[in-house]
Amino acid sequence: MKTFKLATALVASVALPSVAFATDLEVTHWWTSGGEAAAVAELAKAFDASGDKWVDGAIAGGGGTARPIMISRITGGDPMGATQFNHGQQALELVEAGLMLDLTDVAEAEGWKEKVFPQSLLDSCTVDGRIYCAPVNIHSPEWLWLSNKAYADAGLPVPANWNEFVESAPQLEAAGKIPLALGNQPWQSNLAFGAISIAVAGLDVWKEVNVEKNMDMAAGAEYAAVFQAVADARSLAAKSTVQDWNQATNLVITGEAGGQIMGDWAQGEFQVAGQVAGTDYTCLPGLGLNAYLSTGGDAFYFPKNKSADIEAAQKRLAALLVSPEAQVAFNLKKGSLPIRGDVDLAAANDCMKKGLELLAQGNLVPSGDMAWSPDVQKQNEDLLVEFWKTDMAPEAAHAQWVSNLKSGL
Ligand code: BGC
Repeated sequence: MKTFKLATALVASVALPSVAFATDLEVTHWWTSGGEAAAVAELAKAFDASGDKWVDGAIAGGGGTARPIMISRITGGDPMGATQFNHGQQALELVEAGLMLDLTDVAEAEGWKEKVFPQSLLDSCTVDGRIYCAPVNIHSPEWLWLSNKAYADAGLPVPANWNEFVESAPQLEAAGKIPLALGNQPWQSNLAFGAISIAVAGLDVWKEVNVEKNMDMAAGAEYAAVFQAVADARSLAAKSTVQDWNQATNLVITGEAGGQIMGDWAQGEFQVAGQVAGTDYTCLPGLGLNAYLSTGGDAFYFPKNKSADIEAAQKRLAALLVSPEAQVAFNLKKGSLPIRGDVDLAAANDCMKKGLELLAQGNLVPSGDMAWSPDVQKQNEDLLVEFWKTDMAPEAAHAQWVSNLKSGL
């Protein structure tokens, strides 16, 4: 063992000249589930191998818990070296306040404009023509994950879409299963609502409301039907009492629940549990009704620091995150798609292949975080968790939702 350590130390010291500025960089993120931890470990490993040191700053409890902590550290003068946010407007105020490092020189040197696909990912890093974040993945929230075991136990075929899922729910329940796994973190309720809304109302209506901001359509019959569909689905999740999203995924993995509406990060959990897409579980993008991807996901921002060494390390990390090697290693474990098309994904599983196909077809919409401010998103999370978890009338929830959207115009 000692010999091994010595050998490793020698190799490291031989490698040192190219990394004369090796620097510790604290990186904050909310990737704490099994699949997430496996994926982020790939980034840490690559950064450490380059000579710098990834000091992991995982924050448990999900994005809703982590983001306020990250933001208050940055505004309070205790910046980390790098931090995760979702694509979109979550860090906009911090950029506008001059608290984030400008990465335009890295982006130009690395050719991000030519390489990042879709361009909307780089657009959401860009403020007044300057680039402030390094996109690391595309995550689409609107997937239905089904347990093949749960349906086999109940003697039922695995549903091919949301409508079949709802139709077979009573029989699944009679077989002692929870039809729909749903955790208690408010963002999960908003996510499930968003997925059902595209499935029920269709892509055109969704775009008209969320991209064109047509508030008459938001208040109209199409979305009334969406709120009714969610009200009908509430009872399917009544026995799902877990808190975190990955605990809900675990109900699907074990076959206690039929399905879960969740982002493709759920794939990381199935993978860690040794399950095989198509055999043990089934994934349906757009809930099997409107197959598309919304191009949400994660980007890293680099809060300004006083040290020139740290700034140099921040730029090295930004370049590394977008590099083909890091993109492949990280995204294969994360369940997300890479942000560049020129990488080798031969090892992609069936679900990832479905995502890659949709990406190639250009069947894309912006994510909720791109379309709406963090404030509107938060109001809707609070509303939708109440709607899913109580017997709030669909009409009342609909009216409140329209007023939340209007507050963001
Ligand atoms: C992030 C994912 C993460 C998920 C659950 C999302 O906001 O984009 O990377 O896996 O939250 O933690």
